Amino acid sequence: MEKKQQKKEKLWGGRFSQSTERLVEDFTESVSYDRRLYRQDIRGSIAHARMLGERGIIPQKDAQRIIEGLEKILEEIEEGRFEWKKELEDVHMNIEKALTDMIGPAGGRLHTARSRNDQVATDFRLFIKDEIKELDELLKGIQSAFIHQAEKYMGLIMPGFTHLQKAQPVLYSHHMLAYFEMFKRDRQRLSDCVRRVDVCPLGSAALAGTSYPIDRQMTARELGFSQVSPNSMDAVSDRDFALEFLFCLSVIMMHLSRLSEELIIWMSSEFSFVELPDAYCTGSSIMPQKKNPDVPELVRGKTGRVYGSLFALFTTLKGLPLTYNRDLQEDKEQLFDALDTVKSSLAVMTGVVEKMIPRAQNITRDTETGFLTATDLADYLVKKGLPFRQAHEVVGKAVARCIEHGAELHELDMDELRKLHELIDEDVLEVLSVEGSVRSRNCTGGTGHEVVKEALSEAKSWLKKFRIFQ
Ligand code: ARG
Repeated sequence: MEKKQQKKEKLWGGRFSQSTERLVEDFTESVSYDRRLYRQDIRGSIAHARMLGERGIIPQKDAQRIIEGLEKILEEIEEGRFEWKKELEDVHMNIEKALTDMIGPAGGRLHTARSRNDQVATDFRLFIKDEIKELDELLKGIQSAFIHQAEKYMGLIMPGFTHLQKAQPVLYSHHMLAYFEMFKRDRQRLSDCVRRVDVCPLGSAALAGTSYPIDRQMTARELGFSQVSPNSMDAVSDRDFALEFLFCLSVIMMHLSRLSEELIIWMSSEFSFVELPDAYCTGSSIMPQKKNPDVPELVRGKTGRVYGSLFALFTTLKGLPLTYNRDLQEDKEQLFDALDTVKSSLAVMTGVVEKMIPRAQNITRDTETGFLTATDLADYLVKKGLPFRQAHEVVGKAVARCIEHGAELHELDMDELRKLHELIDEDVLEVLSVEGSVRSRNCTGGTGHEVVKEALSEAKSWLKKFRIFQ
C-alpha cells in the first residue's frame, strides 16, 4: 500500500519500497522557495520539448501536447490556481507531474534526454539573466537621481572630507557624480557577469551528456543563450555564475551602505547638510522631536545579509566533488534573499536621493571654517617659486597661528598675510576664497565648475548609451 502510494506520487518512486519519512520530506523539499523559478522552468521545458519533437526523439504530436500543457500550467500558476505539493519536492517535479496528470502519458516523454541537474542549472541561469535586466533598470534609476541632484544644485560649494575631517572645498555636484560613477561600475560589472551566466547547460543531462541526437544549439538559441556549455560535468555542478552575481550584488549593497552612512551623518543636527522629506523618515515612540533616518540605517544594516549570502554560497561550494551534489540546492534561498534585499534597497534609496534637499545655507557656512583653502595657499607659493615642502611648512605655521587667535586664513588682512611670506601679494585673496579654490581645479576629473559641467553631460550621454547586454 505504502509502496503504491509512493509510486503514484513520486516521479522517482520506482526503486523505493518505503515512503519518505515526513521529516525527510520537509527537510529535502525546495518547492516552497524554488517555485519562484516556474517561468524559467516552463520556458526551458518548452524549448526542450520543441527540440525533442523536431529531432524526432519524441513524436511531434506529443511535443505539441506537452507545449500546450505547459502553457496551460503557466496560466494556472500565474492565476494562483496551481496547487504546489511538498511531496513532489521541487518546482521541476511539481510541474512535470501536473503536466502528466493533465495530458496523460505523453507528458512522461518530456524528461527524455534531460535530468533535473541540467534543468535546474538552466533555470537558475535564465532567472539570473532576467533579474540582471531588472537590476540594471533600478541602477539606472538611482544614477538618474544623482544626475538630478548634480544638475539642480550646480554651483553649490561644500567642504570635501578625508578622514571625516574637512579637507578642501568641492562642488556638491561633484560629490553627487562620485556616486554616479560607483553605480556605473556596478552596471558594467553586471554586464561582465552576464557573459558567464549566458551559457546553456541544457543537454548535459545528469552529468555525462546524452545518447539521444539532441540539438543543443537549438535549445540554447530558443532560450536566448549565446553559448552552450562545453563540458557536461562542469555544467551541472558549476555555480560560479551565481557566486559572481552575489559578488555584484554585494558591491552594489556596499555602495548603497556608504551612501547611507554619508546621509546619516549629513542628517545629524551637528552636520545638518541635508533634509529628507517626512515621507522618507520615521519618528521615535518616546522622543517627540525626533525625525530619524531609518531608511538609510536599514540599508546599511541589511548589507550584512547580502555579504552573508555571498559567503554562504562560497562555503557551500568549497567542499563539493564533481558533479551534482544536493548541497547545490542551497544556492537558491541565499541568492533570492540577497537579490530581494538589493532590489528593495535600490528602489527606496532612489527615492531618498531624488527627494533629498541640501541645506545650502548650512553647507555654505560650513565652508568658511576649517582652513579649506590651506592647500591652495601652499600651491600659490609653489607657483611663485617656493619648493612644495617649504610652502607646506609656511602654511602649516600660519594655520597654527590662526588657531591660536581663533581666525581663519581668509580673515587675515593683507598686512598679516604679507608677514607670512614675502612672496604673498594681493592676488592671494582669490586663492584663499573657496570659490577661487574650486574654480581653479579644472584638471580632468577635478571639482572645477567647467570640468564638473562636462562630467555631468558625459554622465548623461553614458546613461543614454549604456546597454547591459552587449
Ligand atoms: N531541487 C534540486 C536543486 O535545486 C534540483 C536538482 C535535483 N537533482 C537531483 N538529482 N536530486 O538542486
